[in-house]
Amino acid sequence: MAREDAGATPWVPGHGGLSAVRDALPRCRGCDLWEHATQPVPGAGAVDAPLVVVGEQPGDQEDRSGEPFVGPAGRLLDRALEAAGIDREVVYRTNAVKHFRFTTRGKRRIHESPSRWQVTACGPWLLAELERVGPRVVVLLGATAGQAVHGPSLRVGAVRGRVMPWPSDRLPLPEPPEAVVTTVHPSAVLRSRARDEDFAALVADLSVAAAAL
Ligand code: URA
Ligand code: SF4
Repeated sequence: MAREDAGATPWVPGHGGLSAVRDALPRCRGCDLWEHATQPVPGAGAVDAPLVVVGEQPGDQEDRSGEPFVGPAGRLLDRALEAAGIDREVVYRTNAVKHFRFTTRGKRRIHESPSRWQVTACGPWLLAELERVGPRVVVLLGATAGQAVHGPSLRVGAVRGRVMPWPSDRLPLPEPPEAVVTTVHPSAVLRSRARDEDFAALVADLSVAAAAL
């Protein structure tokens, strides 16, 4: 798809539950990312989860399996949720962008962060999921998710671990979440040289979200 054609609001079902959203997703042409990805990766988890956790985009393993957070970052997230006393059964996990963006180097596929316009184009899908699940609390993992919800000026370091209101002026929802907590992305913890310390800080931020539940 030519760049000029992309960025149009994708077609998002106005009726039906999460399964209607999931079924419509493969037809999305809202940006160019569908073209090289294996498949879209919708969110997964309890349909009435009180907590929605939003990542960036599917990674290599998620792109192949069609399930969010099944790779290394997802396993670290699971451990952090558990350490924060959050039962993973009460969590719906999804991403700001539903298709994997990557570049190829030989046979390897290297993760590339989605651009701002791709995040904007994919926004209606995140909103559609949040509308169906209707969580009380939303956790945003990293800058892509943080900026998808709060806007491009958000800096994770400045707001992490803080309870913020849902920005209803930007993203109207019939029943907005009561609290939004931004923290770092688990893959940043995986890459960190101070992994134990950064893991503990992630757990502390998730504990703030847990207390708001
Ligand atoms: N990283 C994300 O942000 N989301 C996934 O689903 C997997 C890795
Ligand atoms: Fe549509 Fe989002 Fe995929 Fe772009 S990344 S094609 S907006 S589902």
